[in-house]
Amino acid sequence: MTAPRIDLYSDTHTLPTQAMRQAMAEAEVGDEQNFEDPTVNKLCAMVAELLGQEAAVFLPSGTMCNQIAFRVHCQPGDEIILDYFAHPINAESGGPSALAQAQTRTLHTEHGIFTADQVRGALRRVNRNTPRSRVLSVENTTNAGGGSVWPIEDIAAVTAVAKENGMATHMDGARLLNAVVESGTSAKEYGGYFDSLWIDLSKGLGCPVGGVLAGSADFIDQAWRHKQLLGGAMRQAGIIAAAGVYALENNVERLAEDHENARNFSRAIAQIPGIKLIFDRCETNLVFFDVEETGMDGATVAEKLLAHDVRIGAMGPYRMRAVTYLGIDAGQLEEAAAALRKVVA
Ligand SMILES: Cc1ncc(COP(=O)(O)O)c(C=O)c1O
Repeated sequence: MTAPRIDLYSDTHTLPTQAMRQAMAEAEVGDEQNFEDPTVNKLCAMVAELLGQEAAVFLPSGTMCNQIAFRVHCQPGDEIILDYFAHPINAESGGPSALAQAQTRTLHTEHGIFTADQVRGALRRVNRNTPRSRVLSVENTTNAGGGSVWPIEDIAAVTAVAKENGMATHMDGARLLNAVVESGTSAKEYGGYFDSLWIDLSKGLGCPVGGVLAGSADFIDQAWRHKQLLGGAMRQAGIIAAAGVYALENNVERLAEDHENARNFSRAIAQIPGIKLIFDRCETNLVFFDVEETGMDGATVAEKLLAHDVRIGAMGPYRMRAVTYLGIDAGQLEEAAAALRKVVA
């Protein structure tokens, strides 16, 4: 099966550009397990600096960044507080319970952005028979919350409650740089509130593989043990790290184009009879909409769109999500909106 010509399923479907491939081909490499890969070392230093942390570790995926961070922070039986729709709850194969042996306590929100009062309300009384409230995890931008950006004041408020109660703070920054470009708040400022945080390379940044997890030198030492244990330690990984270095140097500012494209697309499809935008705002690169009033479910609309060479994901019975990213231009989005109009007519 080949991908449709206009693939709005996810920013994980991004393809490396020719210039990125060139940088990969020319990368200096070595044994990364031995810290001898200069390109991996460079990428880790860049991300640690970007996020205002002491050190960083290159991992094969964002999922592994979340799971290793939870393993480092938690003892078996501990509890992680996070949004009900957060990625580790829904799309990491039960990782928190399987790997960190922690349970999750979920907060219900509209955009994936919870309040300090909600965190306070979720804290366990310190007692021999309660789980220990151990990690507060924040997703920025929020994926299932419509790509919303966490305001820095809200980050300050929720992490203050966590710290006052002896908890570790973690940020799932799969799309942190989208938040940075949209809000003007620097990655370092966001990073200052967290004990661990990471960015994904294989989404808006346009790389084929990888995530980079950052934290204190001690946290990263411990993360390395788990990387090794889980089989995530690599060898001449500079080939793929070079894509990350290239992306940090070339592909960050352009995320604003993806946001503009997403907003234009959301405005266009909001005019189509039967299509309702799910969120009141489209801040970054994710557009969620509901198709119930078309009389079709999301799977049927998705199937019919494929006949027009357009892929948009069905995320629930009537909920669909379109994602913009490097390689998707304004013209393709106009075509996709026109195809949607035909399909639901
Ligand atoms: C918010 C969020 N966290 C984590 C991940 C996992 O990232 P990866 O696909 O690199 O494992 C994703 C992937 O879509 C995501 O959207």
